[in-house]
Amino acid sequence: MSEYFPIVEISRLSRYIGQQVSLRGWVAHLRSSGKIRFVVMRDGSGLAQGVLVKGHLPEKDFDAFEDLTLESSLQLTGLVQAEPRAPGGYELQVTGLTPIHIAQEYPIQPKEHGVGFLMDQRHLWLRSPRQQAIMRVRDEVCRACRDFFHDRGFVLIDTPILTPTACEGTTNLFETDYLDRGKAYLSQSGQLYLEAAAMALGKVYCFGPTFRAEKSKTRRHLTEFWMVEAEAAFYTLEDLLNLVEDFVRFIVVRVLANREPELTLLERDPAPLEAVARPFPRISYTDAVAKLREQGVEMAWGDDLGGDEETALSRMFDAPVMVHRYPRQAKAFYMKADPDNPDLALCVDMLAPEGYGEIIGGSQREDDLEILLERLREHNLPREPLEWYLDLRRYGSVPHSGFGLGIERTVAWLCGLKHVREAIPFPRLIDRLYP
Ligand code: 4AD
Ligand code: MG
Repeated sequence: MSEYFPIVEISRLSRYIGQQVSLRGWVAHLRSSGKIRFVVMRDGSGLAQGVLVKGHLPEKDFDAFEDLTLESSLQLTGLVQAEPRAPGGYELQVTGLTPIHIAQEYPIQPKEHGVGFLMDQRHLWLRSPRQQAIMRVRDEVCRACRDFFHDRGFVLIDTPILTPTACEGTTNLFETDYLDRGKAYLSQSGQLYLEAAAMALGKVYCFGPTFRAEKSKTRRHLTEFWMVEAEAAFYTLEDLLNLVEDFVRFIVVRVLANREPELTLLERDPAPLEAVARPFPRISYTDAVAKLREQGVEMAWGDDLGGDEETALSRMFDAPVMVHRYPRQAKAFYMKADPDNPDLALCVDMLAPEGYGEIIGGSQREDDLEILLERLREHNLPREPLEWYLDLRRYGSVPHSGFGLGIERTVAWLCGLKHVREAIPFPRLIDRLYP
């Protein structure tokens, strides 16, 4: 009959030095040396090493070691000691070992696997230290987003996922049958609904999954990604630029402060992230095109910035760069025209440094009913399903602005990942719906 000892998380072991505790988790590594057996186990909160010495634990517990395999689950009981040479820094002098489940031969072995294989094993790959670290950074980013808006009086508004219309153009809509009512589309953005909520509550945000049937295979595109969007009544483009600058700085500072061990594990050089302490450069689209042309990039004024242009431009700055006032023709129907030059939209894209490209898109919104109707015609968008949106311009219309930040692109940048697919637990890509 084993005595009862507290069950603790590995991350809290430092408080239990000299005491008997139990740990529950999975086998990360097994090793034998003479009469001593070592079990390195992980429990999601950290790594700890169990040391089994024959005679110091019941015979059957000592023998159970022989059955253990990589990723088997188990409970270990023992005396906690600090041991700087052990993985995780703590060691358990084991007095009890109870296997919970003996794992079959684990498909992911400590060797190089191809990304395609690992993506098929995503449900298991998440257990690796690298993937755990990315998920913890993602968690920190999401919490920072919520805290930022909460601290500033923005109200969370959950916008619908099933929608009757497009928000960001009709070329990448996911369509589904909606009972007897015809077609519905998976939301490309909560923005239009947020605009309605901003007229009710002043400052609002939403945070949820977003769907785009992206036909392009790039390292920046998912078909399902998470976007945090904010909308504020009476905000102009200038107010918006200040808001997004504060927002991104807030996220980066939080990740640097709270996720240093994870960034270190990911071998992420923090120096480029520390550069966000300085003001973010602001540059007009027109000046950006001129700069790109100086560098030999061939593009015409009026073209949207593609991935390659964004990469080239963001490499010219060491902080995120805010590119504002794009040609209106390249942008969405809801963006307000610049009163000083109606060919331009009052919009901003924020490009992350080190070639990570666009992480934020935002704009001041068109608030005039007649002009908005004209825009719907220009973009060939049906008016009827958007009547409710037009109402916002009929009943107390005010200047207002908002933006959306892509979580996976932000996490990919902060972690220094080559592709957004590792920045989300279960990526949905043009060619991937499994697991
Ligand atoms: O620039 P986008 O399309 O802007 C909007 O959807 C606006 N309605 C937001 C708003 O003003 N409320 O998307 C915003 C951000 C992009 O900057 C990018 O970070 C991310 O969403 N994003 C994607 N991330 C991953 N995969 C994709 N296919 C993405 N498309 C956009
Ligand atoms: Mg955009």
